[in-house]
Amino acid sequence: MTHLLDIASLTPAMVNHILERAESGTFLKHQDITMINLFFESSTRTRVSFELAAKRLGIDVINIDVATSATKKGESLLDTVYTLQSMDCELLTIRHAENGLPAFVADNVDNSLSIINAGDGTHAHPSQALLDLLTIRQQKGHVCDLSIAIMGDFAHSRVARSQISLFHKMGCKDIRVIAPPSLIPTDIESFPVHVFHESLKGLQDVDVVITLRVQKERMQTTEIPNASEYFEHYGLDQRKLDCAKPDAIVMHPGPMNRGVEIDSQIADGSQSVILEQVRNGVLIRMAILDWLLHDKN
Ligand code: CP
Repeated sequence: MTHLLDIASLTPAMVNHILERAESGTFLKHQDITMINLFFESSTRTRVSFELAAKRLGIDVINIDVATSATKKGESLLDTVYTLQSMDCELLTIRHAENGLPAFVADNVDNSLSIINAGDGTHAHPSQALLDLLTIRQQKGHVCDLSIAIMGDFAHSRVARSQISLFHKMGCKDIRVIAPPSLIPTDIESFPVHVFHESLKGLQDVDVVITLRVQKERMQTTEIPNASEYFEHYGLDQRKLDCAKPDAIVMHPGPMNRGVEIDSQIADGSQSVILEQVRNGVLIRMAILDWLLHDKN
């Protein structure tokens, strides 16, 4: 595999390989390798964890400041990528608001450069889904026998799309989406999920509750009522969490809007594994980089 662009292009064997490598925590050092982070949207977790992952593998890391880069002088994205590739960079992580942009770049570079999709529009965020699967496996075992509820702004979520694709691929038979009709995409029939508009019903006896950020930056103002009304119906609080299994785990890919999609006490409570997700983010990204580099050599 040359690139990591989405979950669809991974086989279950590849997924297991990446997760097992991450869990083992043992990695070889890579010398004379450079990774560049090219983020056109803001990020804390993904950018920092890719940087930490690379540094822990002995890889040199450059973070491009898009605000002061030549793209602001009118240079095309492909010209920027060709410029970086000419400096002998092997790995390029890209985050962009446009769906399919990392795949477009991958189609236009030669195999010496691996493109890693660090989140594109509402399309995909494969490394996030992989770290979420690792977290679920550590806490609950294989996903085949689990009921997983994904709650909140599904319409704008690249994380949820990648999670559903991954959980389904790995055998999960009960994936539920809980959201108001305005936050369900029109192509919902194409997803292997059960849709609920009532949180108390959708959360009944689930093993895993994944809350999603309300993505105001990708939204028309009419798509949700005010924050307190949204929280009343779709924010995860104790009353709603009580519908899930008593040992259910609570997840959130971050960044969180406390008091909008999740109550602060739940986010910091005993069932929350949100910071485990963050910790696993570094390990899974080490495993992804290691796997891409191994295939190059
Ligand atoms: N989950 C996630 O992608 O977080 P960041 O936007 O902070 O990278």
